Amino acid sequence: MAITINTLREYKQKGQAFAALTSYDATFAHVVSEAGVDVILIGDSLGMVLQGHDSTLPVTMEEICYHVQSVAKGNRGALIMADMPFMSYGTTEAALANAAELMRSGAHMVKLEGTDWMVETITALSERGVPVCAHLGLTPQFVNKFGGYKVQGRGDKQAELMIEHACQLEAAGADVILLECVPAPLAARITQAVKAPVIGIGAGADTDGQVLVLHDMLGVTMGRTPRFVKNFLAENDSIQAAVAAYVDEVRQRTFPGEEHTFKA
Ligand code: KIV
Repeated sequence: MAITINTLREYKQKGQAFAALTSYDATFAHVVSEAGVDVILIGDSLGMVLQGHDSTLPVTMEEICYHVQSVAKGNRGALIMADMPFMSYGTTEAALANAAELMRSGAHMVKLEGTDWMVETITALSERGVPVCAHLGLTPQFVNKFGGYKVQGRGDKQAELMIEHACQLEAAGADVILLECVPAPLAARITQAVKAPVIGIGAGADTDGQVLVLHDMLGVTMGRTPRFVKNFLAENDSIQAAVAAYVDEVRQRTFPGEEHTFKA
């Protein structure tokens, strides 16, 4: 049965954790969806893991559309979420045109990085039938503003602001919230504060779902492995088994463990 936004909402209501994973091509989309991954993210992380850039900024709309089309061919029922690349949603007009391209390519939902400045854009997308995931916390397209890849939401003021932003973006029409590299207690508070399903990466075990970059969880990385990553291939003898183990550990809430989690 195909996973839809309603499935994710039901999971949240039932307290059933769900697994998301990036994929960028048809074969891996087939493997991960057959293994029970609920959401496939065509992340702009492809700029780093496929193209070898040192950030996600160079990724273009054309490239994301190409990978969405490939994933859509191999997918067996997962919800396909596509990243909107850097500056492709810099204005609401640009966001509408570019989100339409992604949906025509086979996406079921688009993901945007940002805070309250996205209210108008998310409202416009949502009103026109485009499901939206709002990405908060460590938003990699802002690496130059953050001065590096740093945990976000530390300290009371920053934490309260992130909760406020999550509520504002949900009220604007965001269907899913994604939290990257935020302290686990803050992620838990945001998950409680919004009705929308919350997906975490480096955000502790209490979000509704988890996401990882496929290459990271297979231990195929060129640089330093972030704290929140676990190599599932190390304990399994095939990629299929590694992905199935990830899905199982997410559902059992045994991944992420304390060692993958940031404190307040
Ligand atoms: O681009 C990506 O893969 C992402 C995940 C890290 C959440 O945004």
